[in-house]
This record gives sequence, structure tokens and C-alpha cells, in this order.
Amino acid sequence: MSEQLNKFSRTLTQEVTNPAAKAMLYGVGLTQEDMQKAQIGIASTGYEGNTCNMHLNGLSVHVKKGIQENGMVGLIFHTIGVSDGMTNGNAGMSYSLPSRDLIADSIENVVGAQWYDGVIAVVGCDKNMPGAMMALARLNRPGMLVYGGTIRTGEYKGQKLDIISAFEALGKKFAGTISDEDYEGVIQNAIPGAGACGGMYTANTMASSMEAMGLTLPNSSTYPATHEGKKAECIAIGAAMKQLLEKNICPRDIMTRKAFENALTVVIALGGSTNAVLHYLAIARAAEVNFTLKDIQDISDRTPLIADLKPSGKYYMEDVLAIGGIPAIMKYLLQKGLLHGDCLTVTGKTIAENLEDVPDLNFENQKIIFPLETPLKPTGHLQILYGNLATGGAVAKITGKEGERFEGIAKVCEREEEVIEYIEKGEIKAGHVIVIRNEGPKGGPGMPEMLKPTSAVMGAGLGDKVAMITDGRFSGGTHGFVVGHVTPEAYLGGNIGLVRDGDKITIDAVNNVLQLHVSDEELTERRKTWKQPEPSFTRGTLGKYIRNVKSASEGCVTDEA
Ligand code: FES
Repeated sequence: MSEQLNKFSRTLTQEVTNPAAKAMLYGVGLTQEDMQKAQIGIASTGYEGNTCNMHLNGLSVHVKKGIQENGMVGLIFHTIGVSDGMTNGNAGMSYSLPSRDLIADSIENVVGAQWYDGVIAVVGCDKNMPGAMMALARLNRPGMLVYGGTIRTGEYKGQKLDIISAFEALGKKFAGTISDEDYEGVIQNAIPGAGACGGMYTANTMASSMEAMGLTLPNSSTYPATHEGKKAECIAIGAAMKQLLEKNICPRDIMTRKAFENALTVVIALGGSTNAVLHYLAIARAAEVNFTLKDIQDISDRTPLIADLKPSGKYYMEDVLAIGGIPAIMKYLLQKGLLHGDCLTVTGKTIAENLEDVPDLNFENQKIIFPLETPLKPTGHLQILYGNLATGGAVAKITGKEGERFEGIAKVCEREEEVIEYIEKGEIKAGHVIVIRNEGPKGGPGMPEMLKPTSAVMGAGLGDKVAMITDGRFSGGTHGFVVGHVTPEAYLGGNIGLVRDGDKITIDAVNNVLQLHVSDEELTERRKTWKQPEPSFTRGTLGKYIRNVKSASEGCVTDEA
């Protein structure tokens, strides 16, 4: 073992002065020889109740094997998890975003308490990737992530399916355009097994961008969960981890400002989820990197949307494997000067060095990635909007298919559930801007994702006829003319709380404006009768969350004063 490796064996140092700890390590099966080795905490976010996470405990065992084979001790521990797919559209969704911070806290807690020399997080769903990245940044001990991989598509009557097909089938049911038999057929066949939701939704967005950030081995985001490359990647982690310890490469050496720019460039080029905005603001704060909404807008201004991936496009993440995976796309972006090639990665090499031998993207034989000269949209789909409805900012997802400007009449929904009721009654009409409020970080609480309403709108055939704004979030699976993260939220007195049915609203993603056409005097009048709602929770994890959470424009972090 190298000198450096020993240098980082801080658990050993503790054991020498703490015979009880040493005795307990013997008790868990370590040998005298093991006592001389670096200890690596392997944080598995595996659990049985979600397809994204059901295989992660198994992958962790492969990671442990690779760690042991490279002369270190691997010790698996677990964190909690919440399935976004399963909680969307019900009250459980309030726990989803808070789970990100609980995951960060729990990894920090175990690694800090046990003084592991390094940490590897095995992750596979929306919140555990940003949560684990926040933990790595806070701890700043050698570490990396392994993505559990995307799911394969399901199939029914010749149609490829995924989780969004299930939500949109509900909208078709409301609209009476799907039979009961076909509805059941879609639900039963949409999800064929292990893996994260299969489009460029939040999980695949975070996976692709954390690879671009240099926090995973190359191709981690490309291999589907059931691909043999996934197991090989897990075993290869051991050698990489050893090198990180030997060279003392810590997460903050990798998570530089340039690396954040690389991550967001990949998010935007691929048409990724609005949640990436929220998460990277939070991760940057954990890494103490100055990275704000303005930086994200700047990246969006210079980065065309070039990927025809779901939710707004045709293809799935599993299709990206066949065209060379995320490394091939990164190489193309690097060649075109959109990525910083000199950023360090967990391989110990730079991004440019990692990509050296990657074959070039071939534009002749694939239709998933478009050339930058003929993009799907010349600037990014993520736009930060400001105006009297969002003085602290809002995040729009505008791929251009829906147009870039929408002027309409407000239809106010005090909660997400009201949208479904109004759709069922046929009260949502073309030209409406559906305003869903009291769904913010504190008001929701937890900024629930509005996937059920957006899918219902799509399923009802209103996707290109209405827009939606909310102080909640949108799922990575959402498409349509949508604006989320409206800050300040209604619960804190934001103007979104003062909107009334029939008010005119302009959403302008060219000039980055979100404007309520109501005079300041009238808003002052309306504010006189506005009362802050009672918090929905005062105790327990959500009570604590409501008290601590920062705004969406500050990443909804919970560990700052
Ligand atoms: Fe895990 Fe969609 S529910 S990625």
C-alpha cells in the first residue's frame, strides 16, 4: 500500500486510540491485515420498492469486490430513498425533494462519524444523485458515484413505453380516447424491470451531467441498468478509488466552477430536466462554488438544444448507447469548444484525456443528436424568467416546439389536485395559463412535481393550447409550455398568490419575462386580504424542512442559516 493510502487511513488512527472501535471491526469480520487498509464507505441507495433502486444493493456488492481487490476495505451502508415516479400526483410527493437533503445528510453523517477514508455512492433515482453529490462536496474526501443505469423501454401493441406513457394514459382516459383494456395494457407493460426512468428525465439528466462533471467513470450514465457494462464499471471503481487516494484527489478538486459549466452544458444540449437547475444550485453551494441562475442562463444562451430525446423528443436513454454514449456526445461538444477539456475527473485524467480515444459521433447513421449548426433549438430550452410574477426568478422549459411566447388568461388552482378536477370537468380551455400555487418549497411543502397535471393536459390534447406556471416543480418527464420554481413562492407572499382567474399573463422565453398584467396598485389592494396559509406540518421531517428550506433560486438547500 502506498504511503498516501496509509496517510488517509484515518479510521486506523482512531482505532489505535480507540480499542473498542478496533474490536468492533474485528467483530464485523475484518482481519489484522485489514486494520492497515484504507476504509471506503459504500453508500447504497438501494431499496426494493422502486425499479430505479431495486438493483443498487447488488451493484454495491460488485463495488465492494473491486475495492477489496485493490487492497482496501469496503463497507456498505444505506440511505433512504423516495420514488418520484410513484409519489407524483399524491401527497407523498412532498417528501421527494426533502429526501435529497436527507440523503446528503445521511452520507455525510456516516462517513463523518465513521471517518471513512473515501466514499462511493451507488445511485439510481432523481434525488439520490444530487444528494450524494452534495455529500461528496461537503465531505471533500476522495470519492465518486456509480449510476445504477437507465431502464429499458416497455412495449404494448408495438408502442415503446415508459413511466410517462402511464401518466399520459390517464389523461387519455379523462379524454375518453383510450379503452379500459388498452389503459391496463399500458400500465402493466410500461416498466419492464430495473433502472431509472428512461427518457432524458431527471435521473438521466443528473447522471449524464455528473459524468460530464467528472464524478463518475466514463460511460456510467450510458450503460442501462441491465447492461453487462454496469457490473464491469462497478468492479473498475476499485482501481479508480485507489488512485484517488494515492493522488489525494478530492471532490472539490473536480467540482470546480468550470466543471459546473460542463455539467449544465450537457444538461442543456441534451434537453435535460428543470430539476437540474435546482440541484446544481444546491450542489454548488455545498461545494462553495459561486454558481447562480445567471450562470445557467449564460450557458443556455450559448448552448443549442441538439438531442431528440424524450420527454419532448423521440428517443430514450437506452438508444444513446448505440451512438457511442454520453462520451461521444461530450467529445463532440468538446471539439466544438462548448466543454472545458482541462477539468480533472475521477479517472485522475482530464475530460479531454478521457475522451481522446472515444470514436467521433457519426451524423450519417443516427438521428438522436443533431449537429450544432442545425440544432433543434439554437439556444437552450432552460430559460430563467423574471417579472412581477417572479422577482426572484422562475425556470421555464421551452423546447421551441410549443413556441417561445404565450399570452393567456389565468386559471388559478390552489393545489395540484384542482387541475385534474378542472380537466375532468372540461374547465381548462385553450388559451389558459394554469396557475398552480401553494406548491413551493415551504408551501407544498417540498415543491412537488406537477407531472400528473402536465401529463393530464397532454393526454387531454391541450398540450399546445395551454401553458402552466407554478411555484412547485416539474418532473423531468414533463413537456409542454411550463414554468416552475416561481420565486418568491405563494406561501411567502409572492405575487403568484395574488393572481385571480381571468388575469392576463405573459410568458416570454425570448426576453425572459414572466409578467402578470395587473397594476401595482391593484396588487397592493389584493395583498391587504392575503393571509399566509398555516404551515401544513409543524413537526417531523416536513416541519423541520419548512423551517429550514431556502428558496428554489437558492437550490432549496436546508443546511444554511
Ligand atoms: Fe426514479 Fe423516475 S422514479 S428515475
